[in-house]
Amino acid sequence: MISNHRTLLIAFFTVAAFIPVVVLAQGNHCVAQKSPMKMAVAAGQPVYVSKCQTCHQADGSGLPDKTPSLIKSKQITGDKRPLIELLISGHLQQPAVQGKKYSQTMPAYPEMSDDEIANVLTYIRRSFGNKGSLIKPSEVKSMRGVVK
Ligand code: HEC
Repeated sequence: MISNHRTLLIAFFTVAAFIPVVVLAQGNHCVAQKSPMKMAVAAGQPVYVSKCQTCHQADGSGLPDKTPSLIKSKQITGDKRPLIELLISGHLQQPAVQGKKYSQTMPAYPEMSDDEIANVLTYIRRSFGNKGSLIKPSEVKSMRGVVK
């Protein structure tokens, strides 16, 4: 009898030990079903780190007189077209932040894929206190060739 009880107890604890594993596995399942916005932000972050961060900084604050801040900026959360144009061509239709002049030059990234441009722009539109909308790769694609 005693050994039976022990077997039951062991069985009980073995099952109990697996409950968190099952719960965690279901948690991962949710991660796989993230919204398009979350997936774009997650994909855009490493692009920002490798291509933009030296100039615009990890916190988006920019470099005084050299590069603009991207923090809580209407330029960043507003119209998508100038942002897409900027990445493809390296220049803005309107001057950046209140017409201020910066000593650095924003590079053009014509070699970046539609996905990379869409994701990095979505990343900056949702970071640094910005609450902008998603930019889709198809929106970048539709501007290729239009922008010089
Ligand atoms: C060599 C430094 C440098 C790098 C690298 C760089 N930028 Fe810039 N960026 C600038 C400068 C300088 C300006 C201001 C341009 C102007 O005044 O016309 C600017 C402007 C901008 C603006 C417009 C800001 C505004 O308020 O209108 C955005 C958006 C932007 N950059 C995003 C990016 C992204 C995204 C990347 C990476 C893919 C990037 N930049 C990489 C220097 C840089």
